Amino acid sequence: MTTGPASESGGAPAARPGSRRLPPERGSGAVIDVHVHLLPGLDDGPETLEESLELARALSTEGVTRAVATPHCVRGGAYDPTPERIRSGVAQLRAALQEAGIALEIHPGAEVALEPDLYGLLASGRYLTLAETGRYLLLELPADEIPPYTKRVVFDCLVHGVVPVLAHVERNRAIARDPNQLWDLVERGALAQVNASSVASSDPAVQRLVRTLLKHDLAHLVASDAHHASRRPPRWRAAMAVLRDWVGDRRAVELTVEIPAAIVEGRPVPEPNPQRVRSASPVRRVMGWLRRGVDATLRA
Ligand SMILES: [Fe+2]
Repeated sequence: MTTGPASESGGAPAARPGSRRLPPERGSGAVIDVHVHLLPGLDDGPETLEESLELARALSTEGVTRAVATPHCVRGGAYDPTPERIRSGVAQLRAALQEAGIALEIHPGAEVALEPDLYGLLASGRYLTLAETGRYLLLELPADEIPPYTKRVVFDCLVHGVVPVLAHVERNRAIARDPNQLWDLVERGALAQVNASSVASSDPAVQRLVRTLLKHDLAHLVASDAHHASRRPPRWRAAMAVLRDWVGDRRAVELTVEIPAAIVEGRPVPEPNPQRVRSASPVRRVMGWLRRGVDATLRA
């Protein structure tokens, strides 16, 4: 089964037939980054075209061949670029990339802040889907909570054929406290993205959370969420090494190439099979505490 795009006529999100796994992507070493703040002057990413080019160079050096530029879109907030502004920013940067000889294919997109009437605004053309395929929307949850209306927004999108891709879910504090908060949303058909910088984090608690999400099919793709070549850089190489160690080469390619490629091209992706995370028993908590102590000693 594959997930995704539901029927326009409403009702339950439609599942499409297909294999559990996507066919291997050609040139599977080439990472596809569907969440990066690449355009100059639109949000807290690069301020100038030169800084955008530096970030593009960094992405290319780290193995990225295709990227979706996803500026923050927060209605009524400090960052709220129109689709036209994003498209013109992509056109300007494409020309600059060609002139600079940087081999990075870029597409327009947005990282849209959750709000109750999000689908209505999307349908009115206020926001861009990822690579403008009309199939996947990068959706940012608030930092502290999952508001009660989130399930309705996710369902509204799904029944109209748009799959929400929840941005950097590991950074949401409600999910960090209880990863099962994500289960309902993924079970309904949302996808969840984690940041490469969290995969490669020096904080064992962050890595543990990301690994738990991946293990339970509560996270389905990795993206950089890079904002700047040096201040918030793409950490793809470090993340790929960690991912291969955690999940093996095959799943690492699925998380960083195949599912992102399907998103950029508007194709369906394998239907997630989310598992609930069991809370640790007192014995397991003590074992975990001992294991972390040993890990810290070995790292010292
Ligand atoms: Fe972001």
